[in-house]
Amino acid sequence: MEHRPLDDHTSISRVGFGSWPLGGGPWGPIDDAQAKGAIFAALDANIDWFDTAPIYGHGVADERLRRVLGTRISEVVIATKVGVRFDAATDHAESDLSPDHVRADCEASLERLGVERIDLLQVHWPCERGTPIAETLGALSRLRDEGKIGAYGLCNYDAAGFAEALAADPSIVSLQSPLSLIRREAEDGLLGVTRKAGRAFLAYETLGRGLLTGKYGAPPELPETDLRAHDPRFRGSLFLSIAALARNLAAIGEKIGANAAAVATGWALSRPGVTHAIVGARSAAQIRQIALAPRLAAEPKLWAAVDRALAGSRP
Ligand SMILES: NC(=O)c1ccc[n+]([C@@H]2O[C@H](COP(=O)([O-])OP(=O)(O)OC[C@H]3O[C@@H](n4cnc5c(N)ncnc54)[C@H](OP(=O)(O)O)[C@@H]3O)[C@@H](O)[C@H]2O)c1
Repeated sequence: MEHRPLDDHTSISRVGFGSWPLGGGPWGPIDDAQAKGAIFAALDANIDWFDTAPIYGHGVADERLRRVLGTRISEVVIATKVGVRFDAATDHAESDLSPDHVRADCEASLERLGVERIDLLQVHWPCERGTPIAETLGALSRLRDEGKIGAYGLCNYDAAGFAEALAADPSIVSLQSPLSLIRREAEDGLLGVTRKAGRAFLAYETLGRGLLTGKYGAPPELPETDLRAHDPRFRGSLFLSIAALARNLAAIGEKIGANAAAVATGWALSRPGVTHAIVGARSAAQIRQIALAPRLAAEPKLWAAVDRALAGSRP
């Protein structure tokens, strides 16, 4: 498993373990035994960092990581997030990046994860309550000075927002953003900004929430509580065109001993400026397949051929 720098001090595997499904809820039920299978398969594949967030199962993903990893939590890099306030009564989530909330949210994560320091603390999404980004970055910088976090980054900022934040505080190390064959908006400027600044770009949703793995022959029947039941890509003509793309990925993978999931994540990792990919996984088998992605990403001839093969089948 290839590693790439997160910052000047730390290198992490190009594939990171996405812990959202560990929280259950909108991804469907999961128990500790199943989570353990996926987490330990990741460690066996040399995947050495875990992306989580307070909102993933409202603490359940963090608690599960702590329970399942046990003392091994100190061997891995924990990347979590900060800022989202959730109101269970109204089912409303909102980003509050006021310094007080950033500190309280970070301290609650330290407690839940049972660690003394969070390696990477990421702003989950831009503030919806008007706090200037410089104030939020000031709070993060103080947490770093106190040793409560190792480094900080942002998620879900656009090119202008990330550039503005970086101008206010050049010590931001990373940006997390969606990128896949069916979600390419980061290629319109954002990737250029992070690449030029030499910051880590952590791509998420590289599998299109599972659609790009090619496992769905027809739109899946999902309970109302599943987030994919409300995702238009899982229905109608959009679903059909993505399914056709996934079949092409599977055919390409078959020729090189990989499956569509590995090819889809390899594609994201092969894009200029993408340093890492975070993949949500619910089983050991899923992780083992995806662990091939960095090796595929390192073959430029493959991606030129893939781009030609997929040119007509992008939704
Ligand atoms: N910063 C943010 O705002 C943000 C937003 C979204 C995600 N993220 C992070 O990025 C991670 C990844 O994103 P994501 O989980 O939304 O989407 P994803 O990685 O595109 O899809 C994950 C889902 O695909 C299915 N899957 C995974 N490997 C597979 C395989 N080999 N074969 C078949 N199916 C497979 C699994 O679901 P099933 O088994 O149920 O099919 C899994 O839960 C998250 O876990 C989270 O850590 C961050």
